[in-house]
Amino acid sequence: MTTKQQLADMLEMNEGTFISGSSIARDLGITRAAVWKNIQQLQKAGYEIEAVTNRGYRLGGTNDVLSENSIRKYLGEYAGLFRLEVLPGVTSTNQVLKERAGQLPGWSAVIAGSQTAGRGRRTRSFYSPAHSGIYLSLLLRLPLEAEAATGLTTAAAVAACRAVEACTDAKPEIKWVNDVYVQGRKICGILTEASISMESGGLDWAVMGIGFNVYEPEEGFPEEIASIAGAIAPSRQKDLRSRITAAFMKEYYELCRNLHDSALVQEYRKRSFLIGRSIEVLRGDRAIPAVAEDIDEACHLIVRYEDGSREILSSGEVSVKAMSGQNGSTPETGK
Ligand code: BTN
Repeated sequence: MTTKQQLADMLEMNEGTFISGSSIARDLGITRAAVWKNIQQLQKAGYEIEAVTNRGYRLGGTNDVLSENSIRKYLGEYAGLFRLEVLPGVTSTNQVLKERAGQLPGWSAVIAGSQTAGRGRRTRSFYSPAHSGIYLSLLLRLPLEAEAATGLTTAAAVAACRAVEACTDAKPEIKWVNDVYVQGRKICGILTEASISMESGGLDWAVMGIGFNVYEPEEGFPEEIASIAGAIAPSRQKDLRSRITAAFMKEYYELCRNLHDSALVQEYRKRSFLIGRSIEVLRGDRAIPAVAEDIDEACHLIVRYEDGSREILSSGEVSVKAMSGQNGSTPETGK
């Protein structure tokens, strides 16, 4: 473990209390100048640390750094069910987990504070700046038929809504197929990638990746997604990213235990905001006006076109007027 990490752990374990520079120096076996240097590095990495002469250092009241300690703390009794790897930054948590899928057990999680090559559906990118989001992938080894694997994404959308609701005052809603919106803006996207066994035709493993825009990035969202993407919280709150991460993992774990329960689809449907709305079904470069009539028990979208004909969409792209982009990422695609 690096000195910086040891220092971060020390500050987290002594939350609310100042620790003097000399006691940190003694415990870590470094000079006071080195303590200060490490404090500055942690601040640069997003830690909110108060430094007060003659008192020392302590974490600030709205410190919200994703760390293994804090996620474990909020996971409580669920912590033992997961193998956690929390990193400041990666290329893509889905990519990292997929590369290691062969060696890791189910419920391994890779969680990052930023991604340099975050991936969305349909080869889109997913904007993943530091200090503002949660980028989480979970390795799933569940005995599922290939067709049932779409339920993993449905469950993630529902778990994301529950987690955001549990940790904030926001009112999340699902946009078919699997984006989560707050006040008309996308705050969460999900990308599930799976490997199917050639022998059984069932699921070998799946990597469910989810990205939350918790805070608006300091520099704002990039222009391409500025009209679509939104943030869950208006200002930084103590451990909010760790709390949402842990709440999501707990809810998701429970939902995956009962993936075939019809209550899951009922909740998904209840949380979906497309039903009854005018939409456009996007096909190639055509946008066909329709009304989203319902979502069926397989989470397919039932649409009625202007000529009165009806279609059941299991995948595809739909947009609600004035929605297109990426984190952002609508027009929406299928599972
Ligand atoms: C979408 O909205 O199109 C899906 C976005 C999925 C983003 C998450 S962030 C964690 C995981 N790692 C990735 O590279 N993508 C997913």
